[in-house]
Amino acid sequence: METGATAPVARSMHGDILVVTIDNPPVNALGVDVRRALVEAIDAADGDAAVAAVLLVGSGKTFIGGADIREFGKPPMTPFLPDVCNRIEACTKPVVAAIHGAALGGGLEIALSAHYRLALPAARLGLPEVQLGLLPGAGGTQRTPRLIGAAAALDLMLSGRHAGAAEAAKLGLVDRLVEGDDPVVAGLAYTRELLQMGARVRRTRDATALADADAQKTAIDAARAETAKKARGLFSPLKIVDAVQAAVELPFDDGLALERKLFMECLDSPQRAGLVHAFFAERETAKAPETRAAKPRPINSVGIVGGGTMGAGIAVAVLDAGLPVTMIERDDEALARGRKNVEKVYDGLVAKGRIKPEAKEAVMARWSGSTSYDALAQVDLVIEAVFEDMGVKHAVFAELDRVCKPGAVLATNTSYLDIDQIAAAISRPQDVVGLHFFSPANIMKLLEIVVPANVSSDVVATAFELAKKLRKVPVRAGVCDGFIGNRILAVYGQAAHAMMEDGASPYQIDKALRDFGYPMGPFQVSDLAGGDIGWATRKRRAATRDPRARYVQIADRLCERGWFGQKTGRGYYLYPDGARVGTPDPEVEAIIDAERARAGVTPRSFSDDEIVRRYLAAMINEGANVVHQKIALRPLDVDVTFVHGYGFPRYRGGPMKYADTVGLPKILADIREFANEDPIFWQPSPLLVELVEQGADFASLNK
Ligand code: CAA
Ligand code: NAI
Repeated sequence: METGATAPVARSMHGDILVVTIDNPPVNALGVDVRRALVEAIDAADGDAAVAAVLLVGSGKTFIGGADIREFGKPPMTPFLPDVCNRIEACTKPVVAAIHGAALGGGLEIALSAHYRLALPAARLGLPEVQLGLLPGAGGTQRTPRLIGAAAALDLMLSGRHAGAAEAAKLGLVDRLVEGDDPVVAGLAYTRELLQMGARVRRTRDATALADADAQKTAIDAARAETAKKARGLFSPLKIVDAVQAAVELPFDDGLALERKLFMECLDSPQRAGLVHAFFAERETAKAPETRAAKPRPINSVGIVGGGTMGAGIAVAVLDAGLPVTMIERDDEALARGRKNVEKVYDGLVAKGRIKPEAKEAVMARWSGSTSYDALAQVDLVIEAVFEDMGVKHAVFAELDRVCKPGAVLATNTSYLDIDQIAAAISRPQDVVGLHFFSPANIMKLLEIVVPANVSSDVVATAFELAKKLRKVPVRAGVCDGFIGNRILAVYGQAAHAMMEDGASPYQIDKALRDFGYPMGPFQVSDLAGGDIGWATRKRRAATRDPRARYVQIADRLCERGWFGQKTGRGYYLYPDGARVGTPDPEVEAIIDAERARAGVTPRSFSDDEIVRRYLAAMINEGANVVHQKIALRPLDVDVTFVHGYGFPRYRGGPMKYADTVGLPKILADIREFANEDPIFWQPSPLLVELVEQGADFASLNK
């Protein structure tokens, strides 16, 4: 019987049980209307003698996906979520939550405010607020430890991971695990059982998992030490530890008050804004226009040409997605090496105990290799990852054109080469697309989907579908030298090299950027990737370089000595005895000094702040050019590229979001100031100038 409803929460009576269904697609987020309606439902239950108990369920695939992230940063509207949770907990009739899908963040906090909890097998429970720069702010930091102890609660809150139904039951987050997929059926059965047993309200605020004070203190001390070491500039993790400590030391209501204060500090931090931007941006990049306009072609098998660094990594990514792979190499020896490159990844996982040897065998059973292109006759999609040389690429695509079935998607993993030219040389340019993976391809999340002029929309849609299957973060890019990422990288790389020649050491530059939030500085990255790759690119571009442009030769001097980085034992840093972490090299500093003298530069000192300003200004300016020339659809596509492919600190949202945070007039003023020294390099992007003139920001172009 329907007893009244306030969309988006429905209420219906089932005997003496009031079923309250949250129905707010797509993920039942706790927007203000949902919060209001939940309070109304509990008030109604308390005031109605016919109601013996309340059952909370979610409609669709999710229980509740959390607070409505779109409301963050806007004026808050009552009732606030902590008050909603308190109201549920205070209900005088038993409240049961039946969780059949994601119960995340505020969603789990609602469930924890219920008196009994039930999970169905597809349930996923978690407190992922840390990933948005927040802490669980609706009682989660107080109720979770009271229910499952400080150690387990801290683990969930600091990692943000999702626990499955079985683990949630084991931890004590839920009281019972039940088979099935209908939360109403399972929830009603459980609620009836509870009523028959005479179960009373049972409030999580009174739960006793914190009774052993010494154990809690040990867990908190350990989490604090670990977090201080690992949080690397993040603001909210230590606040989470503080809040859990309050749960142990303070009465419930005082702990809630402290949690609220810490939550508001997190909410107001620029890190929260950066992380929320990243959350929405990476969902937005997955929706390229072609994915709306066309249906993807089916992909059930994949060919890969080349089994080197990238070919092998891509093979692992494809195999991990459950698809069969056919690898083509030049000769038997290279093919054997290609297979070994793939196996090495799984052997590593077996050695670490992450997978069983049988699992490796099962995956490798889906791998096959050949030195004949004919083996690719029936595959749905081919990814070429051979040497970065136009002649070699043309030869490979001519073979693909000859053997592949009509409709097969033909993709290249080229880093820089002109994909329009590759496509134009074969009879089916409409089937050619760029799939630019990042190294190591089985780990890095970014996939630039490069869209040549004559490709058909369904091929682009297929590329996005493949990204989803491979669990990659796709970004649509246009054709140009380096696409979005490598093109911008080349520019800010030059800024770094200019600073090095002007007086900053590579070690100072690396440290300044690590302090900004990068896991590694640019010279450490160069040593890791191998200086020979950039050297080859510079040689290729030498003929077309503007002869008036500044060209810093320090990197060439190192490469001429065979100092390519870690793989040769030295690059900008020394790596004695195969060390993974380098030490500064006085010989490199001497080479830099000699280059400064050769170029007639009198070295000057740089503050860390100036290093960051110059590096970021170069990145942002070229980012603006890339948007202006429609290589990237929007500034947010540049942001996602840099967060997922180039180590840009996620909590700053990406370079374009960061530019908005600093203010575009300030960035433009910096560029104009730097242009006094080098007007050829520091040319303000027309888009940046235009936005500053209009008083607009990059965010205005993301809509
Ligand atoms: N608020 C608003 N919108 C949300 C949302 C949320 N909490 N969670 C997801 N969405 C939106 C997405 O932006 C997306 O919208 P579009 O279709 O317009 O792009 C849509 O819902 C579907 O999301 P996904 O594509 O991610 O769908 P999925 O099925 O792959 O995953 C999910 C569903 C597991 C719930 C996933 O969306 C997710 O992890 N969401 C975030 C969960 C989260 O972080 N919750 C904590 C919020 S903070 C909080 O609750 C604070 C507090 O304590 C007060
Ligand atoms: P690599 O040198 O490690 O591997 C290339 C492989 O291709 C070798 O195993 C070689 O035997 C094979 N090969 C060459 N010609 C062939 C042919 N005609 N037929 C079959 N196989 C052939 O090179 P890497 O680093 O894997 O690069 C491959 C491509 O990926 C290049 O286009 C590169 O620009 C691009 N790329 C490289 C990245 C990196 O970080 N290494 C990142 C992203 C893209």
